[in-house]
Amino acid sequence: MPKLAARVGRAKPSAIMQVADKAKQLRAEGRDIISFSIGVPNFLPGPHVYDAVRKALDHDSGQYGSNRGDTALLDAFLKHMEGIGMTGYTRENVVVTIGAKHGLYNLFEALVDEGDEVLIPTPYWTSYLDIAEILGARVTLLPCPPEQNYKLTPAQLDAALGSRPRLFMFNNPSNPTGMVYTQDEIAALADVLANHPDTWVITDDIYNRMVFDGLSYHNFVQFRPELRDRVIFTDSISKTYGMPGWRAGFLAGPADAIRAVVTLNSNHITNVPEIVTAAAIAALSGPQDVPAAKCAEFQQKRDQVMEVLARIPGVVCPRPQGAFYVFPDISCAFGKSHDGRRIGNDVDFCNALLEAKGVACVPGSAFGEPRSIRISYTCPTPQLLPGMRRIEEFFAELV
Ligand SMILES: Cc1ncc(COP(=O)(O)O)c(C=O)c1O
Repeated sequence: MPKLAARVGRAKPSAIMQVADKAKQLRAEGRDIISFSIGVPNFLPGPHVYDAVRKALDHDSGQYGSNRGDTALLDAFLKHMEGIGMTGYTRENVVVTIGAKHGLYNLFEALVDEGDEVLIPTPYWTSYLDIAEILGARVTLLPCPPEQNYKLTPAQLDAALGSRPRLFMFNNPSNPTGMVYTQDEIAALADVLANHPDTWVITDDIYNRMVFDGLSYHNFVQFRPELRDRVIFTDSISKTYGMPGWRAGFLAGPADAIRAVVTLNSNHITNVPEIVTAAAIAALSGPQDVPAAKCAEFQQKRDQVMEVLARIPGVVCPRPQGAFYVFPDISCAFGKSHDGRRIGNDVDFCNALLEAKGVACVPGSAFGEPRSIRISYTCPTPQLLPGMRRIEEFFAELV
């Protein structure tokens, strides 16, 4: 057989899916499994979305569509951006993609050449590293441990930008930590970025509507408008509207960079399908009661998870204020044993927890922080506390 391209050798299967598959297998064997593993919102969009889809079916053109995205969808997204304070963008600044992940992949392709340096703070969402590696970029990780609340500091960013990297990848609110940068923190990072004009900035902010405790979402361009030339904002209907499988995402940024992604779209996907477009327009411009209710529910679930974690001696967990993840440092378990099974690291911990207690979490090493595990708390409410109590029990049984 002829050989495969070198870049696919650098592509790794998702560590998150591996945990999810193992949980599925145990469930199929009849085990009672509670899954805190996959980052899915676990709710469906409001009825107006399905109504819009039914109507769209009646008028389906069956034709190819725009590489940039349907005009009505671009406008709906621009309006949606205004709702979070991202004003001053026009149609030439936005593009629709097959989910945020496809948008990010295209954007990396558009901005980064092989060998270029890409800065990624850790913990990171796994795909940033995978995409950078597939494309042959040189990744510099910026460690943001629990001691600094998993957040990047201005001094750290300033030092890392000294080598004039091609791209800085930023995520807020964060998957996997759930941390949200405050207005002052974003302003301080924006000041640093403004001093380093050679670096593109991607802000992956797809959890921007899932912010708790009265905080609000902020972006660098709101504090330093000159950054609009090189900041590209990423959004998606996946998490906010409970529509991960519908596959619609968005990028907003300077016209040239966005045009490059439109050109890549014309070579990859041609267009986002008409029916998905109708669903996305309805989600973005229809009633926002479902996302608002879910945000309130997730805040309560965050509180419940944190309450249990606070009772476990040795576990350290910065308090998340957004998304639907909690990322506790569980390294106090390392070197101990559960039921004769030694726990040397986060992977051992997650395997032992899944086998002994039937609770699936994702090892932090999948996100570049091997001291921690990710708990995704969107499971049905009746499963949440029992699952957390099993984790508490597991810790109590360590020797
Ligand atoms: C931070 C982050 N960015 C992007 C994505 C991908 O989103 P989409 O479903 O729109 O491709 C995810 C999904 O888990 C995510 O957590």
